Amino acid sequence: MNVGVIITAAGSSERFGPTSKLDQDIGGRALVMRTVELFTKRQEVSAIVVAGSPDNFDEFKAKYGPSLGFHGATLVRGGRDARWETVKLALEAIPPECTHVAVHDAARPAVDEKLLDRLFEAARKLPAVVPAVRITATVKRIADDSIDVADNEDDALADAILGDAGRTSIQASPILETIDRSGLAEIQTPQIFEIGLLRRAYAQDDLSGATDDASLVERLGETVHAVAGDATNIKVTTPGDIRLVRAILDVRAPSERPAHKRF
Ligand code: CTP
Ligand code: MG
Repeated sequence: MNVGVIITAAGSSERFGPTSKLDQDIGGRALVMRTVELFTKRQEVSAIVVAGSPDNFDEFKAKYGPSLGFHGATLVRGGRDARWETVKLALEAIPPECTHVAVHDAARPAVDEKLLDRLFEAARKLPAVVPAVRITATVKRIADDSIDVADNEDDALADAILGDAGRTSIQASPILETIDRSGLAEIQTPQIFEIGLLRRAYAQDDLSGATDDASLVERLGETVHAVAGDATNIKVTTPGDIRLVRAILDVRAPSERPAHKRF
């Protein structure tokens, strides 16, 4: 087994904003470097391709090019709008000797070693393998529309001092239905595929709407297998997730480290 890894790092961190979530300090190193390092120690992995944002590619390269080069990783431009565009571009940089491709979100730096063991072992026998965590919560579909139910009764003084900033907003949306959760699972990355199968999936005419790689393999009519994922393999989306990742990896925030160990 000869695995090429694609790290999708071309997103714009809109929900995290205003800074990039991939630049955040996780125990003295940038989040994206933590993610890359998950794969540098694996003997199955022979190539790592990191796809950065096409909009500030030069900045990304200046920041991470040297460290990525040290790890033997290649840097390519990803896609502007959708993750699948990024993967399609990065696939072109996977060397021909690779038998498999693992696609992983740069925003998931807390992958457990044992999860990687499971996935790589399963991928030796199965052409498409993804980590899945069965949903234990109650799942409901809620409407897009909402009403503001905050109690903003006329308070001329507060308005005069605070303006709109003094107003709160509590949006309430009607529930449309409760969904039977049996058999439902949340799908994570890394997702591992035989290279020919993934190339075929990405050669399809219409890739729109795909939010992960497995769904494009499913569109071919091929079977994707799920193995046990890990609840701690979170995808950093909002600033609060950084605290969770630090807790999971047992590292401190920069402000909590002695000054001489901050960088
Ligand atoms: N990603 C990518 N190319 C895109 C969009 C996303 O490589 N065009 C990457 C992100 O960098 C991230 C992963 O795919 O590592 C999962 O995407 P998401 O968590 O949605 O990250 P962002 O798109 O950056 O965040 P947001 O949607 O809040 O802007
Ligand atoms: Mg996104």
